[in-house]
Amino acid sequence: MTDVKQKALEAFETKFGGKAEMCSYAPGRVNIIGEHTDYNDGFVLPCAIKFGTAIVARKNNTNKIRVVAVDIDNDYDEFEITTDMSKHESKTWSNYLRGVTMLIAKKGHKFEGLDLAICGDVPLGAGLSSSASLEVSFGNLINQAYNLGISLQDIALIGQAAEAFIGCKCGIMDQTISACGQADHALCIDCRSLELKQVKLPQDLVIMIINSNVKHALVGGEYNERREQCEKAAKVLGVKALRDATLEMLIENKSKLDELSFKRARHVITEDERVLLAISAFEKGDLATLAQLMYASHVSMRDDFEITIKEIDALVEIVRSAIGKDAAVRMTGGGFGGSIVAVVEPDMVDKVIAAVNAEYEKVSGKKATIFTTHATNGAQFALL
Ligand code: GLA
Repeated sequence: MTDVKQKALEAFETKFGGKAEMCSYAPGRVNIIGEHTDYNDGFVLPCAIKFGTAIVARKNNTNKIRVVAVDIDNDYDEFEITTDMSKHESKTWSNYLRGVTMLIAKKGHKFEGLDLAICGDVPLGAGLSSSASLEVSFGNLINQAYNLGISLQDIALIGQAAEAFIGCKCGIMDQTISACGQADHALCIDCRSLELKQVKLPQDLVIMIINSNVKHALVGGEYNERREQCEKAAKVLGVKALRDATLEMLIENKSKLDELSFKRARHVITEDERVLLAISAFEKGDLATLAQLMYASHVSMRDDFEITIKEIDALVEIVRSAIGKDAAVRMTGGGFGGSIVAVVEPDMVDKVIAAVNAEYEKVSGKKATIFTTHATNGAQFALL
């Protein structure tokens, strides 16, 4: 965080003159297990990572948000605070801010303008929730700057609604973990009740993230289509959401569902079960069971939910051949590119790096980027 905060401070001074008064920060996330279950009212198990978005700011005594984005070549935008916000035609990055601003205002909160500089280091398009970290960091900034008293979980809901404003009907996972993550813990979110459970991660395990460098973009398209398919399957099964369906129920009703809906539903129903089993595997420090669950999750995303791509499948198999059958590895995030996640013993890290460096380019024509991380804290705010 020091690095992104420093860069944001410098950009702030250059653009607005003088010093920023406050800093807000929120991390990206990696999802350990529980993919596309959140908008089916199910369970997820992400943790916050060491990359995030820093925003430094100063009140500007106007009704405007004026913002410079360090990562977009110091691109600049300004807009009025209003409940009737329009989207910027080309500056997608600013639309996240416009959405969050409008949604806080729509809740009846009164606040005024801010000058801000934003800098983040969550790799874009890597499936690590750079946009959620921006929404949460910004939402919490407004909240804290004007003492609005909004809870972090409500900030997360505002971030989720901002995604819908832009065009992605995402679930609540990314914003909740960015807001409420705790160091050394993964967070089990019950995406129906929004009840949270911090799950302690064994100290001696390392979380590896391997970015395929095939960028994914979730706005619109395939993501929303998957969501519609799930909702359709729930309707046929006569349940409120797929969280309420069981595998037995699905099999009994097979003839009423087209093949695609059946497969989509089977992924979600079995994935929910895997999340709960993974929590107890973590609690027991049982890496072998975790490995089975994570690989089963991957296969289910590949064959039933059909959201992996060949580069991602190749990465998973490279890690499996490096570690063996006890490799806890799967694709993470929305899909169609992005990253894989592996939970490994420390002495396996170098082996995995060597295998990926030796094999991935041969099959994909690209180099992968490899990070290790630990689970970090969620949103933070400080006066400077
Ligand atoms: C994206 C969405 C989340 C979730 C995941 C898939 O990250 O923003 O809400 O649906 O995809 O698990």
